[in-house]
Amino acid sequence: MELKDKVAVITGATSGIGAAVARNLGEVGTKFVLSGRREALLRNVAGELAHAEVLAGEITDPALPERLIARALEIYGRCDIVINNAGMVAAGDIASIDVDRVCEMVRVNVEGAYRMVYVALKHFQAAGGGHLINTSSVLGGKVRENVGAYCGTKHALEALTESLRMELAGTNIRVGCVAPGLVVTDLHRHLPVHPAEQQGFKTPLQPEDVARSVRFMLEQPDHVNIPRVLLLGTEQAV
Ligand SMILES: NC(=O)c1ccc[n+]([C@@H]2O[C@H](COP(=O)([O-])OP(=O)(O)OC[C@H]3O[C@@H](n4cnc5c(N)ncnc54)[C@H](OP(=O)(O)O)[C@@H]3O)[C@@H](O)[C@H]2O)c1
Repeated sequence: MELKDKVAVITGATSGIGAAVARNLGEVGTKFVLSGRREALLRNVAGELAHAEVLAGEITDPALPERLIARALEIYGRCDIVINNAGMVAAGDIASIDVDRVCEMVRVNVEGAYRMVYVALKHFQAAGGGHLINTSSVLGGKVRENVGAYCGTKHALEALTESLRMELAGTNIRVGCVAPGLVVTDLHRHLPVHPAEQQGFKTPLQPEDVARSVRFMLEQPDHVNIPRVLLLGTEQAV
């Protein structure tokens, strides 16, 4: 896809991977509607870009996905790309895990993501094409102790993505997942030490590494779909 003047909705764009994807695609002239709850951060990211609207909101609000697509259509007259990226993590052992946070995570990573998926694809069907990229994780294909519920949310996202890819084969709609290993972002900001630091990684993945993969997926010729990109820092065994 030629990305200049294409329009992308990005959720989870206030920080980390979402913000990096916006900066990367901004370099080639993509236009944006950016979302996330922290409006001041969102405005900072938008301020770095030539064409970016912000629509702050809670991703589990059932009305938000449609509002995002509607805003893109209202401002730019089109929406070609959705980067469905908002997410959070809850982890811990049986004794210490915060089950309320686990349930919030299920609402954000599954319910919120699923709602965005269906709204994006209905729009792409009406428009005759588009590209949806869901942010999964290496843990969308594996499990690890103490983080099983998070793995479950990303497995759920990958299952839906793959099923929809099959359903949409032969159309102009492409669907895929980007599945990073540990990335240095705000995702673990509730923890005293980032897991990459805890594991002694000297060169963990940065959000810009994931953004390059997303751009690679989007820039394929029309007859190519990349269903999943898994990327790991070289120090990460799993
Ligand atoms: N960092 C990693 O190691 C890693 C690895 C694999 C996959 N991922 C996935 O990558 C995606 C992006 O995360 P990140 O690592 O870039 O972390 P991040 O910097 O914390 O970004 C998460 C984004 O999601 C938004 N978000 C979270 N809860 C939300 C809610 N209830 N409503 C609306 N927006 C919400 C956040 O915005 P607000 O807080 O402003 O709302 C933020 O923009 C997530 O899906 C995550 O699971 C991350």
